[in-house]
Amino acid sequence: MHTTGVTSPERIWWKPAHKSEKIWATIAFIWCMVLFAMMPLWHFRGGQNPSGIRARVDPVAYRARYDQFVADYQVGTENGIPVVAPPAGAEVYLLGQMWQWTPILQLQQGSEYTLHLSSWDVNHGFNLYPFNVNFQVVPGYDYGLRVTPTEAGDYRIVCNEFCGVGHHLMVGKILVTEAGGQP
Ligand code: CUA
Repeated sequence: MHTTGVTSPERIWWKPAHKSEKIWATIAFIWCMVLFAMMPLWHFRGGQNPSGIRARVDPVAYRARYDQFVADYQVGTENGIPVVAPPAGAEVYLLGQMWQWTPILQLQQGSEYTLHLSSWDVNHGFNLYPFNVNFQVVPGYDYGLRVTPTEAGDYRIVCNEFCGVGHHLMVGKILVTEAGGQP
């Protein structure tokens, strides 16, 4: 029979599928189900989940906690930005806003802190350079991460979410002092 674009070729779909085709279709279906089950499983058991709390917060309320945190533990100022050295175990507040991270944190190696991240205005991205630590910093949400600095050093917080004309200037600082050492 002559076939063209308007006259379809003779079809054979009503003939039973070959055994090997059925086997492969079964294997593919089972594998789909395995991957489907992995999504919720990985959500609960995967190693990528951050520790700590996540909660809604009014940016004004967050800013009030931030102000109190700075007032309680400020030890100095650098280029107009407060330098804050909280004690071990403290609730630590970091505020992202166009286009800076405040305050400058001074933490102790080996001590655990709850590091709160939130934004005053728009989405920012917390990237702790040079480590592969990345978090979305969203206005209205408080990310309370339980962190323990393992290495002393002078680290940078780089904003990795485009947030306007000053995005590339949005660099913060975390200082980690050696355990038992003087800041
Ligand atoms: Cu903040 Cu880019």
